[in-house]
Amino acid sequence: MKLSELVKERYTTKAFDPEFTLTEEQIEEIKTLLQYSPSSTNSQPWHFIITGTEEGKERIAKASAGRYEVNVQKIRDASYVIVLCSRSYIDDSYLQSLLANEEHDGRFADSDAKNMQNKTRLFYTNMHRFELKDIQHWTEKQVYIVLGNLLMGSAILGIDACPMEGFDPAVLNQELNLREKGYTSSIIVALGRHSEGDYNRKLPKSRWPQESVITELK
Ligand SMILES: Cc1cc2nc3c(=O)[nH]c(=O)nc-3n(C[C@H](O)[C@H](O)[C@H](O)COP(=O)(O)O)c2cc1C
Repeated sequence: MKLSELVKERYTTKAFDPEFTLTEEQIEEIKTLLQYSPSSTNSQPWHFIITGTEEGKERIAKASAGRYEVNVQKIRDASYVIVLCSRSYIDDSYLQSLLANEEHDGRFADSDAKNMQNKTRLFYTNMHRFELKDIQHWTEKQVYIVLGNLLMGSAILGIDACPMEGFDPAVLNQELNLREKGYTSSIIVALGRHSEGDYNRKLPKSRWPQESVITELK
C-alpha cells in the first residue's frame, strides 16, 4: 500500500474487540520500534510500561476512571496497552551511562568523537536544564516522537491503535511507582483490533486542506 493511502487508512480506534490478541511476533516488532525511536542527541529519555494481561490493563485503566471514563473500556478491551513515560530529570550519571552505552555500541572511532558527542549532548541538556528550565517539556517532546512512530508503525503492521491523553497522570504515576523511578506518564496507547461497534472506523477523516497547512518556498 502507498504511504499516502496508509496515512488515510489509519485511524483512532474507539472500540476494541476484546477477543483479539496480538501475536508474539507483532509484540516483538512493537518493542523494537519503541527501543529504536530517534531522540534529540540520542537522549532516549523514556521508559515504556507494556501489558497484555487483564490485571495490568486494570491497573492502567484506574487512571482513566471518572473524568476520563470514555477511555476505560478501550484500555480493558485492547490486546496490548503501552504507557509512554518521560524522564522527570536528566542528571550527570544518566548522561555518563548514555555515553558509555554508545561507546559499547561502537559509536566512537576515537576519544575525540566521544568527547564531541558528550559536549554536544551537554550543550543541549544544560540549555534545557539551566537556561530554558524546561527539561521535562524537552523529554516529553522526545516521547511524542515515539508516539508518532508507534501510531504509524502499528498501521504498517495492520494493528489498530488508540492514543490517549485522557487519564490522570498523578493516579498512573502512583499506580506504576513512576515517580520513584524518575519518570512521569505522558500518554497511553491501546493496541488491538477494532470491534464492530467502533463508530470512528466508518467516519471520514477530517483534516485542514493541504494548502492551508503546507507552504512551499520557491
Ligand atoms: C496526543 C493525542 C492524544 C489523544 N487522546 C485521545 C483520548 O484520550 N481518547 C481518544 O479516544 N482519542 C484520543 N486521541 C485521538 C485523536 O482524537 C485523533 O487522533 C484525532 O481526532 C485524529 O483522528 P485519527 O487518529 O482517527 O486520524 C488522541 C490523539 C493524540 C495524537
